[in-house]
Amino acid sequence: MSKPAPGKPSPQSPARGMQRNLANYGDAGFSVFLRKAFIKALGYTDDALSRPIIGIVDTASGYNACHRNLPDLIEAASRGVMLAGGIPVPFPVISIQESFANPTSMYLRNLMAMDAEEMIRAQPMDAVILLGGCDKTVPALLMGAASANVPAIMLVTGPMLAGSWRGEKLGACTDCRRFWARYRAGEMSDSEISEVNAELAPTIGTCGVMGTASTMALTVEAMGMMLPGGAAVPAVHAERRRLAEQTGARAVAMAAENLTPDKIMTPAAFRNALRVLLAVGGSTNALIHLTAMAGRLGIGIDLEGFDKLGRETPVLVDLKPTGQHYMEDLHRAGGLTPILRELGPLIDRTCLTVTGQTLGENIDAAPPSWPQDVIRSLAAPVYANGAMVVLRGNLAPDGAIIKQAAATQSLLRHEGRAVVFDGLPDLAARLDSPDLDVTADDILVLRNAGPKGAPGMPEAGYIPIPRKLALQGVKDMVRISDARMSGTAYGTIVLHIAPESAAGGPLALVQTGDRIRLDTTGRRIDLLVDDAELTRRRAALPPLPTGDGRRGYEKLYFDSVTQADSGCDFDFAVPEIREWVG
Ligand code: FES
Repeated sequence: MSKPAPGKPSPQSPARGMQRNLANYGDAGFSVFLRKAFIKALGYTDDALSRPIIGIVDTASGYNACHRNLPDLIEAASRGVMLAGGIPVPFPVISIQESFANPTSMYLRNLMAMDAEEMIRAQPMDAVILLGGCDKTVPALLMGAASANVPAIMLVTGPMLAGSWRGEKLGACTDCRRFWARYRAGEMSDSEISEVNAELAPTIGTCGVMGTASTMALTVEAMGMMLPGGAAVPAVHAERRRLAEQTGARAVAMAAENLTPDKIMTPAAFRNALRVLLAVGGSTNALIHLTAMAGRLGIGIDLEGFDKLGRETPVLVDLKPTGQHYMEDLHRAGGLTPILRELGPLIDRTCLTVTGQTLGENIDAAPPSWPQDVIRSLAAPVYANGAMVVLRGNLAPDGAIIKQAAATQSLLRHEGRAVVFDGLPDLAARLDSPDLDVTADDILVLRNAGPKGAPGMPEAGYIPIPRKLALQGVKDMVRISDARMSGTAYGTIVLHIAPESAAGGPLALVQTGDRIRLDTTGRRIDLLVDDAELTRRRAALPPLPTGDGRRGYEKLYFDSVTQADSGCDFDFAVPEIREWVG
């Protein structure tokens, strides 16, 4: 077999493999010659280097236990690539784990998306396998891949198994909050909470409830960017490695088919993903991430359209935090496919997926569903009224969200007195003070916790119940903010108020003692203060924060991040919105 000579690609065919994305020396032939010289230092033959090249994004990190099985998955995916005749080339992209990112993982999501986009675009690869799992990593990788528009397929690390404490099943991170709330209320000792701490994440993998990681995995599978069955298989299960091998093989075929993200991530595919977000009672964060992912392809997600989907789509999946089961139970129940089958006509079966088949063809090819108690029917849902509701009103002109499925139902229509915290430091300083003037009927207000305000829109919307009330047994109150909330949290919590207070939103005008009315049925959140008084208060506000005096990534972030209703992406990364989902 004659060796292919290094040099320019044939003018009849687009650049492939090692010929793609050449370093620019002004001489393409020399660029290939030099590239091959260096990669041969890794021991490759010319024959190997003539094969389709499949990049594999490696997001392993010593700080990221959610990605601890990355080495195994890369090995299995590489095997699949080689069995299909390609060459796997792993490469690093930054990794973000929720509890190891200061100030927040959301602050770094767009940096990871830029890293992924530019490294996919810069290096030679005919397709790319996106390996992620922890909350922000999946949307970041797909935002980058969508912008690079190289054939891409997602493989997640998979959920962790549930733990057990004194006979009680538990897992990160819904039970982290539940037990911490009990500890704050004086119901648990130091040694007991320490025992729980050791059981909350008993294996590697992503949080084992319907948090953001699980929600993103399921919505991305529904969108068609992951192999069928890829979302729910536990991280430690042998099936996860088999999925990795199959993903590797499929990536080689996708390269030959030039099956790029723009052919899969269509408005109809995002509508399917939003349906699944609602049907699984998923994380509110996923709405921001799906909006950001869609934006990269010029697709807008209309909040009223999302609310309409919510009115039509009940919660079918009985998982924590809204239900009782864990991701390992959803896996045993069949994963996403039975959910899609149950949604039936609410799902667009014609959408193309990474298999090269439509979503409907994938559903039909899967094994028949079996009796189980995790996924309910449309006729007998877990929650009939839609997991999430979009709110508007004089407090949220550009929208806010509440996960009503995870709320105290009697609080969904509530009027109360505002108790205002001016930011996270103020919250930390006063929340647990015995002198705090607060009752269970009040509405806790947190501001300066949005995309710019904190910065990084922390998951601080789950404002803890003030200690004096927690000690009285208060479990829930209406809480409102421009922050986000962990997908694993629960309560009557209004989130993502836009515009945020640090961008001039009316949340900045609220004063302790004002009356606020939440009317989830009417889709309203209103500050009951007359316009003249609000105008007077606005005139007295200090100037809004600016990017002046900041440097580096912080300046880029502050100057460019968009509001929650636009996905909190960087404005310069989003092309013109040409189509809307709604
Ligand atoms: Fe990584 Fe929850 S902390 S998925």
